[in-house]
Amino acid sequence: MLVSASKMLKDARAGQYAVGQFNINNLEWTKAILTTAQENNSPVILGVSEGAAKYMGGYKTIVGMVKGMIEDLNITVPVAIHLDHGSYEGALKAMEAGFTSVMFDGSHYPIEENIKKTKEIIELAHSKGISVEAEVGSIGGEEDGVVGTGEIADPQECKAIAELGVDMLAAGIGNIHGKYPENWQGLNFDALEKIKAATGEMPLVLHGGTGIPEDMIKKAISLGVAKINVNTEKQLAFAQATRKYFEEGKDLQGKGFDPRKILAPGYEAIKKTVKEKMELFGSINKA
Ligand code: G3H
Ligand code: ZN
Repeated sequence: MLVSASKMLKDARAGQYAVGQFNINNLEWTKAILTTAQENNSPVILGVSEGAAKYMGGYKTIVGMVKGMIEDLNITVPVAIHLDHGSYEGALKAMEAGFTSVMFDGSHYPIEENIKKTKEIIELAHSKGISVEAEVGSIGGEEDGVVGTGEIADPQECKAIAELGVDMLAAGIGNIHGKYPENWQGLNFDALEKIKAATGEMPLVLHGGTGIPEDMIKKAISLGVAKINVNTEKQLAFAQATRKYFEEGKDLQGKGFDPRKILAPGYEAIKKTVKEKMELFGSINKA
């Protein structure tokens, strides 16, 4: 069932669990995530970066693929197709193509401009029943060309963006895209507590979900995080399983060169990673 992310995140915030945003790159990733969500009766958000959208052909291709799969595979759990770290232009295009949720990442603009642009996106999105995520502060590291400084979000700026009526708010709290460095200081829970206090019932979003220790994930959920984004961890699992297939020479045995066989171990690895995250986030049986 294709929906916006608004209700599923309100429910998650109220129920003290988080919905996973799992980024997609192609058909196999999409199918692995959707079937795992269905098998575990979990709501799910398919994240699509602008780079991944371009790679797959464009926003319309993605909407067509996801809609078709929901129907063909009888996916009845709530599913949102969400633009991840979208530019202003990207958000407009994704909405036009049928995305049910968009992130407008204005975190690199001065706060006044971030507010102005976020407001415009909200007006258009909400007139079409599309949910909106905004970002304050900055997520460290790099994801698909989006580079962040890692600046900790200011609670008052979070409040100003929350009051515009966004459906979910991403705040930089020391989280980083990609693998965490050895000397990482951990999430800044002091900042998160202040952001929670300043933003009321707003579902907060934790980016950089790869490699955050379980106790920190649970604490973040207890402090208002209702959506957690995971990308790199699935890429690592997919790459490792695929490498094993080739290292074992399976492509040279029988019909092992069939792309459907080559991609199967990676597909299963994604399913396993997604299920583990759904268990950790507490979203199983919350559809
Ligand atoms: O926007 C997507 C993410 O924040 C994913 O971060 O690649 O570190 O899991 P990650
Ligand atoms: Zn992110």
